[in-house]
Amino acid sequence: MPDYKSYPVWDAGTRWFHWVNFICVVGLSFIGLIILNGDFFQPATQTKINLKVVHVWIGYVFALNLLWRMVWAFFGNRHARWRAILPGGRGYFAAVRSYIGSFIKGSPEFYIGHNPVGKIAILLLMLALIVQAVTGLVLAGTDVFYPPLGGYFADWIAADGVTPADILPYAPELYNEAAYQSMRAFRKPFITVHLYNFYVLSGLIFLHVFAVVMSEIKGEGDIISAMFSGRKISEQQPKDQVREKTNE
Ligand code: HEM
Repeated sequence: MPDYKSYPVWDAGTRWFHWVNFICVVGLSFIGLIILNGDFFQPATQTKINLKVVHVWIGYVFALNLLWRMVWAFFGNRHARWRAILPGGRGYFAAVRSYIGSFIKGSPEFYIGHNPVGKIAILLLMLALIVQAVTGLVLAGTDVFYPPLGGYFADWIAADGVTPADILPYAPELYNEAAYQSMRAFRKPFITVHLYNFYVLSGLIFLHVFAVVMSEIKGEGDIISAMFSGRKISEQQPKDQVREKTNE
């Protein structure tokens, strides 16, 4: 009979981040795809504005949650910290080689926290999420004049005699045409990055889910339920932590 042990891994702060992030990314992708395919859906102007506003509100929750995770990486348990997330450090490449070798042989080494290859995926995911949040916050300003930069863009494009606070989306009569065109030129790289990074993020999420499911099938601890329960159960000796193992 294998000797199964239970190990604490994802603390409450990390689990909350993960599931709030998941819900936001699904919601943002869904609405983003409708905005992107405006030619197909042909929404009325007011519907278009409403979709962007809802996207931005979910975006605020998403961005704050991401910020929270970056702060939590200084205070959370040892598996939540930067040191446990970021690839690198002494012996890292040897650990990657050893992990890949064990995975190919069909019995992956057991890590309580992220395995060495998983760390690369997590770093790329975090970077893609950060890029999406930063470009999204700029677009919130240029498209619907929402904070944090909406006031600045409204100031930029307001026609003579129009108070910037009265600027509305899709209301060209309130804009100075030349200033509006230069603001749109400024916006262009942000929408391009927001769109292409959405594709990159979608690919990374697909790989992330695929890797998690493969690891689960190969018996590398119950890594899916661990993101609900906070614990991993395995009969293998963990590579990343020996002292904390418990039998509870
Ligand atoms: C994982 C996070 C996100 C995803 C997957 C996502 C996805 C998308 C997609 C696919 C589009 C359509 C792009 C296009 O029309 O070319 C879009 C547009 C937009 N996004 Fe996001 N977004 C995210 C985060 C955010 C955040 C955090 C904000 C702001 C708080 C934001 C604000 C906007 C705005 C204002 C637009 C409209 C741009 C336009 O007029 O086309 N997004 N987003």
